[in-house]
Amino acid sequence: MNFLHYPVMNKEIVNILSNSLQGIFIDCTVGMGGHSYYILQGLKDSKVIAIDIDDESIKQAEINLKEFEDGVTFFRFNYIDLFEKIDFFNKSVSGILIDPGISMFQLKSEERGFSHNIDSYLDMRKDKTQKLTAYCVINSFKENQLIKIFKEYGEVKKAEELSKAIIEKRLFGAIRTTFGLKEIVEKIYGKRLKKGKVHPAAKVFQALRIFVNRELEGVESFLKKIPDYLNSGVRIIFLTYHSIEDRLVKKTFNFLEREMKLKIIKPFPMFPSEAEITVNPASRSAKLRVAEVI
Ligand SMILES: C[S@@+](CC[C@H](N)C(=O)[O-])C[C@H]1O[C@@H](n2cnc3c(N)ncnc32)[C@H](O)[C@@H]1O
Repeated sequence: MNFLHYPVMNKEIVNILSNSLQGIFIDCTVGMGGHSYYILQGLKDSKVIAIDIDDESIKQAEINLKEFEDGVTFFRFNYIDLFEKIDFFNKSVSGILIDPGISMFQLKSEERGFSHNIDSYLDMRKDKTQKLTAYCVINSFKENQLIKIFKEYGEVKKAEELSKAIIEKRLFGAIRTTFGLKEIVEKIYGKRLKKGKVHPAAKVFQALRIFVNRELEGVESFLKKIPDYLNSGVRIIFLTYHSIEDRLVKKTFNFLEREMKLKIIKPFPMFPSEAEITVNPASRSAKLRVAEVI
């Protein structure tokens, strides 16, 4: 098992699932297969349907989960389309895990452009078959469109100033790389890292990534479909890493509880332990929300 990506709150997740029925688990965002690995190892006779939108991640997960052979079935598609792609009639599903965002495998890639710490072409696509890249957004979108993206998906301060600086810079040639964009960000916000603060480019890169990959699109309608397609007792586990996505999940779970379609499992949300944050600092922003189909 390659632990380049530490599966966040994996003990808590296996624990939550071990209290539910045993059957098929749907890992909507298998990444490097970390959570699936612990589920298959920890829950006897379990099977996993493993989905990811990224071909390279699926290849990696196939290697990491090889020992479970027929226990895992892999699919490459957007999990938002789950119920259109797989027929769950007569399948006994016991849990569904959504851990979106990006993995360390993707973040540390020298070609994919997700990190402001690695100089690379401004790509940022998880699904390499799609046309839109971060390069297209940065080099062809209008100033007001850029402002909206930075504000809406990154809550970026001085979004107007940043967008103006991008437009001015690209008059002299395309902004091709992550470091090219980071340089503009640093001119506005400075590059000095205050202790305990993330680099100013982090929010800008987050906003672009969410927009390019349409990360928030369809999440609400996908969650609302679950009680119609999966049986009572199925546990839904959602990990979020930023407040914009977390608000969306919280709001939808609360709505479904009021509709008496889901029961929220408390504490709501759960957070990684101090011990986990020490081992895996990237988990510090994680929140885990769990609900059960009624
Ligand atoms: C944080 S990682 C998941 C890590 C995984 N749980 C593990 O333990 O290795 C997020 C993964 O979700 C995938 N992903 C993000 N959005 C997706 C979507 N809408 N549909 C399918 N996969 C998605 C990404 O490509 C990435 O591999």
